[in-house]
Amino acid sequence: MADIVVEEVRKTYVVRSGFRRTTYVEALKGVSLRVTKGSIHALLGPNGAGKTTLVKIISTLVRPDSGRVLVGGFDAVEEADKVRALIGLVLDVSKGMYGSLTGFQNLVFYGLLKGYSYSDARRRAREVLELVGLDEESAFKKPYYSYSLGMRARVGLAKALFTDPDVLLLDEPTLGLDVSSSMVIRGMLVDFARRGRTILVTGHNMREIEEISSEVTIINRGLVIAQGGINELKRKLGLANVLSIKLEGAGSREFISRLKEGLQIIKVEANETSVASSYRVYARNSREEIVDAVTKLIKGTSARVVDFSIAEPSLEDAYLAVVGDTLRR
Ligand SMILES: Nc1ncnc2c1ncn2[C@@H]1O[C@H](COP(=O)(O)OP(=O)(O)OP(=O)(O)O)[C@@H](O)[C@H]1O
Ligand SMILES: [Mg+2]
Repeated sequence: MADIVVEEVRKTYVVRSGFRRTTYVEALKGVSLRVTKGSIHALLGPNGAGKTTLVKIISTLVRPDSGRVLVGGFDAVEEADKVRALIGLVLDVSKGMYGSLTGFQNLVFYGLLKGYSYSDARRRAREVLELVGLDEESAFKKPYYSYSLGMRARVGLAKALFTDPDVLLLDEPTLGLDVSSSMVIRGMLVDFARRGRTILVTGHNMREIEEISSEVTIINRGLVIAQGGINELKRKLGLANVLSIKLEGAGSREFISRLKEGLQIIKVEANETSVASSYRVYARNSREEIVDAVTKLIKGTSARVVDFSIAEPSLEDAYLAVVGDTLRR
């Protein structure tokens, strides 16, 4: 099984438009990242950040100006063939598909190009179509041009999976998929990673990304602006876990002030009435630490804990915290 190493990759597109007009677009300005074997790493960032460019570079389709990319130890420029043999790619799903062929025929043709025998290509095409759940009628009878966006996404993924690759590079793989289809695809990706496949995925739906990946790299304007484990990232950003707690009885205030002593508090919002008091406590602590602190206090208090819940900050909170700042600049 293979990992992905990206070191200081730079890419400037040279755009010639009009009469002698040349502009330069610095798409990547020294990006580094590492995707460990068997993990799902998300590459995030606003439109135009450079995500697709990086996916193209890792998949050997675009040459970096400088820096280095290794997939399973093979150099994406010097040993492009070896890298290609290791990867499955989703990028601009409709590209390389023939509109007048069915999904099945498109995949068989792809298999033949990959060196499969005709019967092996047919067998594998059936397998991967079943895997991505494209219905029989569409897969075998309807031409590709008549497919919906979601059906195209499924065939695209089937193509990426065709060679049973060690590494999957997926540029917005669930784009255009309905809720249940994208859930099925996410489940598949998690399953692949569990079986040792290495996955780099881009996307804009933070909730989906948070569900499947453990590590993220956030880029903006070609630069890495945040990187690491999702939980670590939230902690580093000082994002708070929010404890909502409702207390009754005379000891409520004392309860909260003792709670404050035991936790790293950012702020406390209080709504105290004669009947009950509700508090929202923003703390830098983990859920476990907060539960621990509350449980310890419950035993020795005259206040009654009527209700409590802890909300974690989401990846979206973390993303907005880092990207929001850079967008405003
Ligand atoms: N072939 C190209 N020629 C010239 N400029 C390009 C080319 N491809 C991308 N760019 C530019 O490079 C920058 C990065 O583009 P890229 O497609 O990598 O961004 P992205 O993060 O994938 O964005 P999105 O979220 O919209 O897909 C953008 O400014 C884009 O306009
Ligand atoms: Mg893109």
